[in-house]
Amino acid sequence: MKLFLDTANLEEITTASSLGVLDGVTTNPSLMAKEGITAVDSHYSRICELVDGDVSAEVIATGYAGILQEGRHYARLHPNIVVKVPMIPAGIQAIKTFSEEGIKTNCTLVFSPQQALMAAKAGATYVSPFLGRLEDEYGAKAAETVIQDICSIFKRYSFKTQVLAASIRNIDHVRMCAIAGADVATIPYKVFQALMLHPLTDRGLDIFLRDYAKLNDQTTS
Ligand code: G3P
Repeated sequence: MKLFLDTANLEEITTASSLGVLDGVTTNPSLMAKEGITAVDSHYSRICELVDGDVSAEVIATGYAGILQEGRHYARLHPNIVVKVPMIPAGIQAIKTFSEEGIKTNCTLVFSPQQALMAAKAGATYVSPFLGRLEDEYGAKAAETVIQDICSIFKRYSFKTQVLAASIRNIDHVRMCAIAGADVATIPYKVFQALMLHPLTDRGLDIFLRDYAKLNDQTTS
């Protein structure tokens, strides 16, 4: 399973990348606005320098021609750029064109297996089902079922499109997506850090270090 960071914050990307387990980054217009980014091209290029993997840059346009123009522009910034396109009819049409041009795409704002199927048919590189928002609206079980259904449909028909689980809110979402067989989870920085933590690990390490110290205090005293 690939782990992406869902952020536009360069410090978070730098820190997560230093662990050696970061496979990519996703951004969206809200994450860019949160960081106050106005020079988007240079920011996307900077992110591509910080991580060795795909970086999703989302278009703002919602018409076919506008999506194509914006997406082709972003794709020229760096080979790792993935053009993020909303799950709308014009978006599907644009994803089809991008796939014919060899431009990588991430179909976002996906909330059903049917939408994911359409994006896969169009040749999307990734589809991003929004787990957290589904859970907010319909509950945890319904949200989990959407991820499971998409994974099983893609497996059944051998779609090359990758399931990029998004809107991840906690480490249990990551567990569930991994069990369901999602190819990628894109994770907020705080959740990414929390993946490594467990209270029993902290407790166990304290005991190990305390016992070691006791022994060495005895031998040196
Ligand atoms: O970036 C796409 C997605 O991960 C955002 O999800 O629900 O945290 O805004 P959310």
